[in-house]
Amino acid sequence: MALLKLDVLSVRNIRSASIQPSPFLNLITGANASGKSSLLEAIFILGRTRSFRTTHIKQTIEFDQPCLVVSARNGLENEAVSHIGIRIDGKQTEIRIDQESRHKADLAYALPVQLIHPKSYRLLDGGPQLRREFLDWGIFNQHRGFLANWRKFGKALQQRNALLKARQYKQLSAWDKELAEYGRLVNDFRLDYIQVLQPAFEEMTNRFLNATGVNLTFSRGWDNKLNLEQALKADLEKDMRYGFTHSGPHRADFLCYSHNRLAKDYLSRGQQKLLVLALLLSQVNLLNQIAPNSCCILIDDLTAELDTANRLKLLEYLTQSGCQVFMTATELNDFGNLEVLKNYKVFHVEQGCIKQL
Ligand SMILES: Nc1ncnc2c1ncn2[C@@H]1O[C@H](COP(=O)(O)OP(=O)(O)O)[C@@H](O)[C@H]1O
Ligand SMILES: [Mg+2]
Repeated sequence: MALLKLDVLSVRNIRSASIQPSPFLNLITGANASGKSSLLEAIFILGRTRSFRTTHIKQTIEFDQPCLVVSARNGLENEAVSHIGIRIDGKQTEIRIDQESRHKADLAYALPVQLIHPKSYRLLDGGPQLRREFLDWGIFNQHRGFLANWRKFGKALQQRNALLKARQYKQLSAWDKELAEYGRLVNDFRLDYIQVLQPAFEEMTNRFLNATGVNLTFSRGWDNKLNLEQALKADLEKDMRYGFTHSGPHRADFLCYSHNRLAKDYLSRGQQKLLVLALLLSQVNLLNQIAPNSCCILIDDLTAELDTANRLKLLEYLTQSGCQVFMTATELNDFGNLEVLKNYKVFHVEQGCIKQL
């Protein structure tokens, strides 16, 4: 996929912008607070129906405006084109694909976006929720069957927790069965995914850190010696006391090691950023293997992320990946020697107005 035309209305300081991006590299320049991150945020919202800067999507709507709208002409394989769009007014989210009202997941499949930004290192040292989301986004794009199971697991968990909270224990066992069944399936998907992610991750760390010996260890979220049904039983008293479910895939996590040392505790911030870059790009690589060029990559504040040598490596990688890329920096020469780049367009942002140079 590639966004061939992008329209943004009332996303932060971008009142109204319409651009025709390159299907490959798009370099976005502009002074601080001009609206560069807001442009990436608009694309992120289109793919993921949420912001990467705030949990309150309403904050991304331009001050004093009722809603934001992001829409695009999305180029598909064989020159087919699809129209995708999202409108958010703070209460409701409307999603359209080719004039039909659709769900969040349809939009996510239509526009898989991967984001690298100055806080991406939190993937290593932030809470486990971030890492579960990371894994699940990868699996979601890799296996169409995952979403249905993931939703059924989520529903069973929600119901079970509601019963625990309300101290209505009679119906618990019915939900235990659902939870155990779909929890096992969700976990199987994650185990498989870690297996394919590991070698892709090793290849990327080799490329960006010249390092070997990295590995990911996955913990599924409940006692290794028990199946999930047994773990739920074993926890019952504790679950009843605290009013929530202690064991299950909703407690899963993974840790990242470099030469058997925990990366978040031993590596420098710079190395951690590169490791996260490698993790995020290894997901893109996996996606490219099943559907070439199917991912849109957003890189915010390139210079904050990487030194000159690694910027060059990244640009080389991105160019050969064939993906559509949007990246921001304050100055054009932050992107390095443009003569080696092909098929790129440059956009300049000034007070929320975007012009192609
Ligand atoms: N909801 C909003 N409505 C209007 N402007 C906003 C809103 N939220 C943030 N801004 C402003 O948008 C501007 C652009 O921010 P940003 O995209 O982060 O700039 P850049 O990435 O170029 O440094 C900032 O001046 C910020 O204060
Ligand atoms: Mg910014």
